[in-house]
Amino acid sequence: MGKKFPEGFLWGTAISSFQAEMGRGEPSNKTDWWAWVHDPGNIEEGIVSGHNPLNGPGFWELYADDFRLLREELSNNAIRLSIDWGRLFPKPTDDIHVPVKLDKYGHVYDVEISEEVLRELEKRVVQSSVKRYREIFAEAKKQDIVLMLTLFHWPIPLWLHDPIKCKTDLEHAERRGWLDNKTIIEFTKFAAYVAYRFGDLVDLYCTINEPRIISEHGYLSSWSEFPPGLYDPELYLIVMRNLAIAHGLSYEQVKKWDKTSFSDLGPCTIGLVPVLQVFAPYDPEDQRDVDMARLVDYAFNEWGLNAVFHGDYDMNLDYIIEPEEQKPYTVKGCDYLGINYYSRWKIKYEEKSDKPLANFKLMPCEGDCTDYGWEIYPEGIREVLNWAYKRYRRPVYITENGIADDKGDTRNRYLLSHVEALHQTIYEDKVPLKGYFHWTLMDNFEWSDGYKIHFGLFRVDQETKKRLPTKTVEVYRKIASSNSN
Ligand code: BGC
Repeated sequence: MGKKFPEGFLWGTAISSFQAEMGRGEPSNKTDWWAWVHDPGNIEEGIVSGHNPLNGPGFWELYADDFRLLREELSNNAIRLSIDWGRLFPKPTDDIHVPVKLDKYGHVYDVEISEEVLRELEKRVVQSSVKRYREIFAEAKKQDIVLMLTLFHWPIPLWLHDPIKCKTDLEHAERRGWLDNKTIIEFTKFAAYVAYRFGDLVDLYCTINEPRIISEHGYLSSWSEFPPGLYDPELYLIVMRNLAIAHGLSYEQVKKWDKTSFSDLGPCTIGLVPVLQVFAPYDPEDQRDVDMARLVDYAFNEWGLNAVFHGDYDMNLDYIIEPEEQKPYTVKGCDYLGINYYSRWKIKYEEKSDKPLANFKLMPCEGDCTDYGWEIYPEGIREVLNWAYKRYRRPVYITENGIADDKGDTRNRYLLSHVEALHQTIYEDKVPLKGYFHWTLMDNFEWSDGYKIHFGLFRVDQETKKRLPTKTVEVYRKIASSNSN
């Protein structure tokens, strides 16, 4: 006999637009990610796989069948999916004037959006994309599936970010993505528009998926895998700061323009989705590893949440918030935390530069590892949930958790052990965990690795688009249908 989860617990899967939509129907080819994965230089350097997102699972056309799989095969009651900014606004919207306030450092803290601005956006939006998203969301409603909508799961319209120019010549680049105020302002407009146009069909929102991965993989990764493939700890913090500001401003606009959505947590519920990982010293006896693991944990897990919840922007990473690092006026709210949890990483000190955040190496996984080389560490899901809830005091969801498992041999064990840890988190630690979304429904475009990596509960035949269940479908169905592990 399994142990029961709370009544009303959400059991779902998560997908994202760029990864899952293409493969059938209209492509989304006006974003930085599209440019990034097609760039011949990136392909030649091996930064990206060379795979084409056009061979994806085709959710854009096949969504109704996928919702049926979710309902009938998995007994799930929820889906987390994202809306593609570049599909709605492939052309500039920055000539639509909005009053903006900057602080004395030149950072945006207020964007005013009027009904007139929304009417102007309505004239510019690609109506066929609006229509299709409304059909997708309405289908979820019809099939009685709770819809959690992510506003930003990574691709930026090309008119705001030219990742290849930024990679090769940042100094002269004009479209610099999250490095610039302009992207923050345009994202705020986009968020207001989504709330205004789709609020009647949404149950919960999340603003930004994994700010830290956007920033780290794009600006602090020695293998340059994400756009724009730069390496500079200072840029990492600037992007983290801008994403925290963008969270606040978009939160405020969604609250203003959505008058209809409702979740178990109340009207118009909006959260943020950080990825939290456990960072441990490689050698606990070596003080340099201990200190470095602490710094990585601070910069990667904690920094962005301190910014969103307290307006603390520790730009020199000295653990002290100087007056010029305080921006309480950027704190607008966050109704819940959606936590993505995958793994634990061991950190080794390695001197590389005079910038402290550069001086580490993520050690390769030893022991229980996935196809991706990520450690399987189910205790970690409990650790990060406790940490996040006890520190920031918001209800929590697991918005992603899953495993790259080509053969499908390990996924059952991974799922069961993590779900067991969730039960302990709720009943022993008293953490208000409201739902669990497995990453992911079906194999999809795994960013720079394309189709090499398989996180899906269903495999996908690239030609026929047929979904083929892995062994975990039955296991997850039992959990979700009995609401117990
Ligand atoms: C992302 C997903 C990604 C998954 C597996 C998460 O960081 O949100 O888009 O596919 O991890 O790598």
